[in-house]
Amino acid sequence: MERKRIYLDHGASTPVHPEVVAAMAPYWNEIYGNSSSVHEYGRLAQRALENARQTIADLLHAQPKEIVFTGCGSESDNLALRGVMMAARVSGRGNHLITSAIEHSAVLKTAEQLRDLYGFDLTVLPVDEYGQVQLSDLKTAVRPDTVLISIMAANNEIGTLQPIEEIGRFARAHNILFHTDAIQAIATRTWNMHDLPIDLLSIAPHKFYGPKGIGILYVRQGINLIPTLTGGSHEEGRRAGTANVPLAVGSAKALQLAMAELTTRNQHYQQLRDHLITGILNSFPADCQLTGHPVERLPHNASFAFRHVNGNDLLMHLDMAGIAASSGSACKVGDPKPSAVLEAIGLGPEWTKGGLRLTVGTQNTREEIDYTIHTLQRIIPKLQALETTTA
Ligand SMILES: Cc1ncc(COP(=O)(O)O)c(C=O)c1O
Repeated sequence: MERKRIYLDHGASTPVHPEVVAAMAPYWNEIYGNSSSVHEYGRLAQRALENARQTIADLLHAQPKEIVFTGCGSESDNLALRGVMMAARVSGRGNHLITSAIEHSAVLKTAEQLRDLYGFDLTVLPVDEYGQVQLSDLKTAVRPDTVLISIMAANNEIGTLQPIEEIGRFARAHNILFHTDAIQAIATRTWNMHDLPIDLLSIAPHKFYGPKGIGILYVRQGINLIPTLTGGSHEEGRRAGTANVPLAVGSAKALQLAMAELTTRNQHYQQLRDHLITGILNSFPADCQLTGHPVERLPHNASFAFRHVNGNDLLMHLDMAGIAASSGSACKVGDPKPSAVLEAIGLGPEWTKGGLRLTVGTQNTREEIDYTIHTLQRIIPKLQALETTTA
């Protein structure tokens, strides 16, 4: 009998949609020119690249010039933070940036490096028990020389949505730029960049059935960025390097599909997510808690903390049962340290190593969720016994 395989790690990455694969196909070995070349091969590639940019801009209610293709989501975050802060240094505009304690490391480590190696001032805001930033803390942190606020739209580990409209309006009122890492949230809602008070927005297509190896940064018109990758004048001088035309085409197709199927996907996700949450919390009334906001959360994210459970052992046992899950950020697999996000929301040491993130996708079924709940009922008591005897 074939071994059961259930993928519940769509927050880490997703399969590429067959229509995305089909859209990219001609751009590997038929239309393969360098989009900067003057000849016909180049012009054809250039046209495909600019069509992809236009499609993405239209879907976000933005201008094509506001769309920058990068090499991954992390690079989009890096370009936003480094690009804005370095430009501020050049113009003498200010020296201070603000972010939150539960940002993805692509933002947090970049901000820390800007502080430690480049001498910028950094304020890292705390979050409440649900993982939300408080506007009162932001108001206290702002200074006359604050250049940038970077707060994620949704947390990758616990799925909490941040009040980004409110933060953006506050930033705008204080003449501060606002960047949001929307890498987890982008395909779960609509975005009207014309109206939203957001100046820079990071996107990673591999999180919504698009390809890996490409990222997108929305940059509001008029914002000056110092490029982090220097060289040719690609992407209007904001990111050097020969454009990856097939991946840009695939990204546009993936975003188009995500927006066209937004309601049906979200309904499907929410049903499965809520079934997971109810089933798991009812199975372990005293030893498991939902992490993140109960309502203001990503439709496809069910995240938990188990008391006296080693998250890495949990992932291994789930994997042996054919279930792919994560203990938080995909980048942390193998890391036995307590989760910094779970610490930031105030959980004690008996909980912070027992994080579990289950992120559902379009192809998951209710039967798969039932199997996952039953599997957890079987393995959690064993892992708790192991942890308390070895502790
Ligand atoms: C919120 C968030 N930001 C940034 C990243 C980094 O994206 P990438 O791995 O595409 O560089 C991720 C990936 O997990 C993420 O979830």
